[in-house]
Amino acid sequence: MSFKTGTNPWILFLVVTAATIASQAQQSVAQNGAPSQCFIKSGTQCLVPSGAGSYAPTEVCQTCHQDVWDKHFANTPHSALLKGDQHGCQGCHGPAQAHVDGGGDTSKIIRFSTLSPQQTAAVCMRCHQSTPETQNFSKSEHLANGVSCTSCHSPHKSEDVNFLLVKRQTDLCYTCHAAQRAEFARPFRHRVDIGLVQCSDCHNPHGTETGHQVRTAAGQFAVCTKCHTDTMGPFVFEHAPNKTEDGCLNCHTPHGSTNPRLLQVNNVNFLCLRCHTPNANGAAPGIPSFHNQAAKYQACTMCHTQIHGSNFDPFLFR
Ligand code: HEC
Ligand code: HEC
Ligand code: HEC
Ligand code: HEC
Ligand code: HEC
Ligand code: HEC
Ligand code: HEC
Ligand code: HEC
Ligand code: HEC
Ligand code: HEC
Repeated sequence: MSFKTGTNPWILFLVVTAATIASQAQQSVAQNGAPSQCFIKSGTQCLVPSGAGSYAPTEVCQTCHQDVWDKHFANTPHSALLKGDQHGCQGCHGPAQAHVDGGGDTSKIIRFSTLSPQQTAAVCMRCHQSTPETQNFSKSEHLANGVSCTSCHSPHKSEDVNFLLVKRQTDLCYTCHAAQRAEFARPFRHRVDIGLVQCSDCHNPHGTETGHQVRTAAGQFAVCTKCHTDTMGPFVFEHAPNKTEDGCLNCHTPHGSTNPRLLQVNNVNFLCLRCHTPNANGAAPGIPSFHNQAAKYQACTMCHTQIHGSNFDPFLFR
């Protein structure tokens, strides 16, 4: 059903009412006349109560919410819900015949402003549970700390064309993560400010199986090697720490640093000597005695240039 502007509102009302009644009759046959009181169940527990009643015809919402329909729905990815019997708006707001019959009774419709983050997630997950990207949300740090799908996404009022985000990604993350904003303001940093790298390149905001919601690169051992493939190897002569669990973070900070190359310490020799000291208690050999720490031997990577691993030289010279 589509109405051109200028249609007499009374005709529109009658047409819609007729359609409503017809559809109600259809639905009560389909559902044995039992109006659903619960939109989302888990076993016998009701996770999200519905406004009650059966589904109204999809188009009927237009009669009173034309602005939402036209401006905040029609051009969004969710307009896909208008196809088939997905119930359009009611895919999220629940069966709404009682809301319509009540002339817009707000106690008979799902209103997100009244839902907890868990309840909101339950509604969204009706459709987004099976996507690998979002499937871990129930276990995420975000949900555990009261961050809701609607803290980051707005189906109607998105300010970012991508992914219905409430605002541009970096600004969005910074609204809550002030400490990281400070880290990314350091002199050496991943350029999230200009979008060269995004938080979501390294993190999955919907949660991961690993700590700190850090992504793993498929088939690789660390998120960093998704982009820095040359550091990944395998090398004939590996530099052992690169292949440990901490990997790159043995030597680099991920966000930003006051040291060039995002190194953890400002003098490269101090970094190396954390491990390469005879009594450092690790697998690393101490430096040879001719490495007196006079100027020449401080710049370790002047000679040991292939610090991430080498295919030619066990001492990582080339
Ligand atoms: C007969 C007119 C009418 C129809 C048809 C109608 N609504 Fe409403 N709706 C209203 C009115 C009036 C309000 C209350 C508005 C307010 O309080 O700002 C309302 C409120 C709502 C709200 C809550 C808004 C809030 O402030 O939280 C939602 C959600 C909603 N409607 C969705 C729907 C959906 C989905 C449909 C289609 C199934 C629909 N409405 C059909 C009149 C209608
Ligand atoms: C993908 C889920 C989803 C669909 C589909 C959806 N809504 Fe909403 N609706 C929401 C959420 C979430 C909010 C809370 C505000 C926000 O985050 O945008 C909301 C808020 C509203 C409100 C409250 C006013 C406001 O803007 O805050 C109205 C009215 C409304 N929706 C009507 C509709 C109508 C009409 C349709 C169909 C054209 C529809 N919704 C489709 C999720 C949905
Ligand atoms: C902390 C913020 C945040 C929260 C909370 C959040 N999202 Fe997202 N979501 C994002 C960002 C950022 C992206 C874009 C990711 C990217 O660039 O790959 C995204 C992408 C998506 C996508 C597109 C995924 C794809 O396949 O590319 C879907 C669908 C989605 N989110 C749904 C949800 C649902 C459903 C919830 C709640 C269960 C939720 N999101 C909670 C930030 C969030
Ligand atoms: C009734 C099913 C349904 C529900 C419920 C639902 N969505 Fe969606 N969602 C869809 C469909 C269909 C698409 C479009 C998928 C596509 O294009 O592949 C979509 C797409 C998205 C996208 C991706 C947009 C993009 O730019 O790629 C985001 C983000 C999203 N939904 C968030 C949400 C959030 C948040 C909620 C809960 C408030 C929600 N969805 C509830 C069906 C649903
Ligand atoms: C280049 C990859 C990368 C980018 C880009 C990135 N992160 Fe991280 N982030 C990480 C890694 C790796 C850790 C884990 C650090 C650890 O284990 O010590 C982390 C840790 C975190 C933590 C946990 C606290 C902490 O600092 O250890 C938060 C919060 C965080 N990041 C938020 C963000 C935000 C917000 C953005 C975007 C503004 C962002 N990250 C961009 C890789 C990245
Ligand atoms: C509405 C506030 C809010 C928004 C927006 C938000 N976060 Fe969070 N985030 C939190 C809270 C609260 C926690 C849990 C407490 C903490 O670790 O800081 C958290 C935790 C995290 C963690 C895990 C930290 C750890 O130590 O395990 C990462 C990573 C993270 N957020 C990244 C992001 C990214 C990336 C975005 C943007 C896409 C984002 N967050 C947007 C509030 C938010
Ligand atoms: C999405 C791709 C991407 C991911 C993932 C990524 N980086 Fe980067 N990285 C870049 C880009 C692009 C630059 C160059 C930045 C510039 O020129 O401003 C860079 C720069 C660097 C630099 C500085 C190089 C120089 O010449 O000064 C280091 C060190 C670095 N990254 C380490 C890491 C580490 C460690 C991780 C994992 C925690 C990581 N990167 C994950 C894209 C990425
Ligand atoms: C044992 C310490 C150590 C580890 C582990 C390490 N790096 Fe480095 N990395 C360095 C040092 C030192 C430099 C500076 C080299 C120079 O100045 O010539 C560097 C430089 C870089 C650069 C700058 C460009 C280049 O290749 O010289 C990037 C990018 C980089 N590392 C990424 C990574 C990634 C990704 C990992 C994990 C796979 C990693 N690093 C693991 C010590 C390390
Ligand atoms: C986190 C600890 C750690 C750090 C930091 C570290 N290394 Fe290593 N390095 C090791 C370990 C462990 C080995 C492997 C020893 C073995 O296989 O017997 C190794 C091996 C080496 C080797 C080869 C030695 C041999 O006998 O095969 C060289 C050369 C080397 N590192 C140089 C450096 C330099 C230069 C730095 C600083 C940029 C550095 N390392 C930082 C742990 C570290
Ligand atoms: C001027 C060049 C040069 C500089 C600078 C230099 N090295 Fe070396 N490094 C060497 C040479 C030459 C060897 C011996 C290779 C051999 O035995 O054939 C060596 C060997 C090593 C070994 C292997 C020791 C063993 O017993 O297996 C380690 C570890 C090492 N260097 C670490 C460092 C560290 C850490 C720094 C910075 C503090 C550094 N090197 C600076 C040239 C250098």
